[in-house]
Amino acid sequence: MKKLALSFAFIGLIACKNNQQETTPICKASTTSQITYQNDIQAILIKNCLSCHSNKEHSGGVKLEDLSDVKFWAGSGGLYDQIIPFGGNPPRMPKGYAMTDCEVLMIKKWIDSGLN
Ligand code: HEC
Repeated sequence: MKKLALSFAFIGLIACKNNQQETTPICKASTTSQITYQNDIQAILIKNCLSCHSNKEHSGGVKLEDLSDVKFWAGSGGLYDQIIPFGGNPPRMPKGYAMTDCEVLMIKKWIDSGLN
């Protein structure tokens, strides 16, 4: 019987922990931490964009694998325009699904703070 009670306590703990993670997601873009390509942005691009925009697979002639290429698109405004809703339409990129709000915010903050 003691064992059973313990298992319930354990399940309760896990449930609690999951709940907490869902209700209080802290996006690094909303903190004062600096966003850098190396620490933050590269991983977001690998996850969401490189399946179509790598050096090998450059859909629409767009490569986002090397920092110099990313800076080109970010600096021209083209990158941000593609990932936010525009004229009542959902964001054009990534094609087929949406990034999380946090991912979009991270990219915005990185661009606004000077592409470091
Ligand atoms: C499933 C494939 C796919 C994914 C994933 C994808 N793209 Fe694209 N992207 C395309 C294609 C195809 C084009 C060519 C133009 C078109 O069809 O809209 C394009 C075009 C672009 C362009 C050029 C638009 C212009 O000005 O002509 C940019 C910038 C871009 N993508 C950025 C991104 C970014 C940033 C991500 C990740 C957040 C991303 N894409 C994810 C397929 C993809």
